[in-house]
Amino acid sequence: MFRLPIRLQAIANLIDDCNLIADIGTDHGLLAIYLCMTDKTKKAIASDIAVKPLKKAAQNIEKYHLEDRITTILSDGLHDIDKNSDCIIIAGMGGHLIKKILEESPTKFKTLILQPNLHEEVVRTSLMELGYQIVDECLIFDRNKYYPIIKAIKTTSKVNYNELELEFGPILSVKKEENFINYYQNKLDTFKELLKTLDKDSKGYQDVLKKIEKLNKIL
Ligand SMILES: C[S@@+](CC[C@H](N)C(=O)[O-])C[C@H]1O[C@@H](n2cnc3c(N)ncnc32)[C@H](O)[C@@H]1O
Repeated sequence: MFRLPIRLQAIANLIDDCNLIADIGTDHGLLAIYLCMTDKTKKAIASDIAVKPLKKAAQNIEKYHLEDRITTILSDGLHDIDKNSDCIIIAGMGGHLIKKILEESPTKFKTLILQPNLHEEVVRTSLMELGYQIVDECLIFDRNKYYPIIKAIKTTSKVNYNELELEFGPILSVKKEENFINYYQNKLDTFKELLKTLDKDSKGYQDVLKKIEKLNKIL
């Protein structure tokens, strides 16, 4: 058995036992392989928009003899994904691309595990608008970078998140785990230093001041 990188392992940890998971933008396919090998899912779809990564995924699937449990699919986002998939993973992409993929899909899947590299507030806003509730979140530090991971489930009742929850995470900002504190404390310190260098009458000063006020609220 191989070891997943910290970020992908954290994604795997958030997944409940499934019949069929779909990893969108699978690249190497290692997450789908790991989820099958650890029996977190009976079957998996490893999909990608590009031929080259999908070939790499297919080779890895063959290497681990999982051809009967993992199907590779060339697909743009969720367009050609089996509607019966009970968990969709979209990881390692920008927030705007994740939002686009979710909003283009006519099917509302039961569970989503999303890991935006940037613009996580865009993803949370889209989830709220599409009728999903955020049920878990974590902030992972891997290879010198922080990555938020969001788990959401389809809901019939409307969930409203305020501006701070959308930006910092409704669960993350309550849990206030060590990575969360370190990440935002570091940002706060940087903004405080920056403020000292700015002219008090400038727009830049007011912008940085607002950011400091926000960070003080969540820390
Ligand atoms: C940076 S890799 C992330 C790989 C893996 N999910 C991870 O987190 O390690 C992004 C992958 O998403 C694929 N991708 C980009 N846009 C996509 C789309 N609209 N639909 C499906 N896959 C897409 C790319 O081809 C690439 O293989």
